[in-house]
Amino acid sequence: MKKIVDLISEDVKQAFASKGYEEKYGFVTLSNRPDLCQFQCNGALQAAKAYKKAPIIIAQEIADILKENARYKEITAIAPGFINITLSDEFLAGYLNGMRKEKDFGCEKEPNPMKIIIDYGGPNIAKPLHVGHMRSAVIGESLKRIFRFMGNEVIGDVHLGDWGTQMGLVIAELKRRKPDLVYFDDNYTGEYPDEAPFTLSELEEIYPAASAYSKENPEFREEAKKITYLMQNGHRGYMALWKHMQDVSVTDLKRIYERLNVSFELWKKESDAQPYIPDMVKYLKENGYARISDGALVVDVKEETDTKEIPPCMILKSDGATLYNTTDLATIVERMELFNPDQIIYITDKRQDLYFETIFRCARKTKLVNENTKLKFIGFGTMNGKDGKPFKTRDGGVLRLEYLIDMVTDEVYRKIMENRTMDEEEARKVAEKVGLAALKYGDLSNQISKDYIFDVDRFTSFEGNTGPYILYTIVRIKSILEKFKETGKTVNPGLEILEAQSDTERDLMLQITKFSDTIQGAYEEMAPHRICQYIYELSDKFSSFYHETKIISDEYDEKRQASLILLITLVQGILLTCIDLLGFTAPDRM
Ligand code: ARG
Repeated sequence: MKKIVDLISEDVKQAFASKGYEEKYGFVTLSNRPDLCQFQCNGALQAAKAYKKAPIIIAQEIADILKENARYKEITAIAPGFINITLSDEFLAGYLNGMRKEKDFGCEKEPNPMKIIIDYGGPNIAKPLHVGHMRSAVIGESLKRIFRFMGNEVIGDVHLGDWGTQMGLVIAELKRRKPDLVYFDDNYTGEYPDEAPFTLSELEEIYPAASAYSKENPEFREEAKKITYLMQNGHRGYMALWKHMQDVSVTDLKRIYERLNVSFELWKKESDAQPYIPDMVKYLKENGYARISDGALVVDVKEETDTKEIPPCMILKSDGATLYNTTDLATIVERMELFNPDQIIYITDKRQDLYFETIFRCARKTKLVNENTKLKFIGFGTMNGKDGKPFKTRDGGVLRLEYLIDMVTDEVYRKIMENRTMDEEEARKVAEKVGLAALKYGDLSNQISKDYIFDVDRFTSFEGNTGPYILYTIVRIKSILEKFKETGKTVNPGLEILEAQSDTERDLMLQITKFSDTIQGAYEEMAPHRICQYIYELSDKFSSFYHETKIISDEYDEKRQASLILLITLVQGILLTCIDLLGFTAPDRM
């Protein structure tokens, strides 16, 4: 289904053409004065220059033609040369009936669907998840859903960090604490136990302890490095411990992601890319892409147009060790081989911007990536506390992701219990859903690249631009529809949405028509916040309409009653679709 602005543009373009002007001047946009009109065309101002005429004369000529068209209730030419456009109520209602009957409310999809890998989440085994990982997961999940909705094939990959020095640190610390474990006996040749020699909470406590200890103890640091090296080169005992760490971590990660309503098609790991490294290094050397610099193997990636210094991309350190870089390049090779995607999108903290720029340049220059495959980095801003500084726990530590979810959920629970309309068990379940909406909406309603302030009170408020407010609207519509059902009446299938009978009804209807525009915009700009803005306005317009309109009444004839029910059903459907694209769900009541 065509977007409503495009339909109107067609008419206005035709009008320009019929008066001998170039069609392009008939370009229509949403009105920036909604108090005066619904849409506007500013083309007469530009045409005036090209045709050396007064803009208002051209605007008036076009207005005179459009006035004849039944689609429009009001067309006015306004000095110096604007054309203000307001749709007829009949056309507006007709458009909504079209939307209502089409799949996905008539949103036009991507004409050239792509195969896209989204690399998001990026948790590290044996290290606790933190807020940055939450942002990556929340943003990535939403973008994945938006891309998929638009008709693309999208594969989400969690890209687990299981290959870094953190593994060696944890093993070294474990060795210090429990030196008698069979894993540390280099002469042992038997099977290792199925059960891990540590619990999850132990594992979570070990990493920070080991990391702190290594800072003051160089010997320990060396030991950890050695262990990392041995583990990466197949030491049996260390490999077995590494496997245990994976199992324990992944089970927990899956649980947390489930709580976040985030899911991955792929659970690939950094270690999966390691087998690709030897051939890749050989290829880079043999084709003259890599050179030795201070003993290290590097690829130069700077370009003439650079305004800042872009360091070479290091492939191997002077001791032959691989780096985060090496793994990411090998992962590109792996992804090309396994999936041959049209695009790979990476979502991390924007501080990794330069890092990815280097990787992308290196992959392009050395043709590790297919020429037609796009590589795209999306960097997000920091979530700050009310003091404007990165969010920390009270004792100054990095806030663990799960505490954050609990904090928001508990606050919602408290708010629900204040009203005491449900028992504790139900309230807990509802709070989990509403809390997640609060958290995700609080995040996604900001432009991705911007820092934002985490404010539990504001995020969990049932009023204003918040997740709970959107859910509240959905729940309210649901209860009206249930009440309608209870009256025993039904909507006769032949009936339609009728012309608006009030300003608030018309405003609501107009807002609905902007659905496709919003989703396409969010897709093209990779901007979920546009969806948030749209549903916030939609909820607000619904609220104004609802406050002055009785939705169910015996005084209505069958047609009017059906029209109102169809209208709010459409609002509900659109809201549900949008929150699904943002990655949260609505409770039955709240
Ligand atoms: N594990 C990394 C971190 O915690 C993020 C991984 C991002 N993805 C990638 N392909 N490098 O910072």
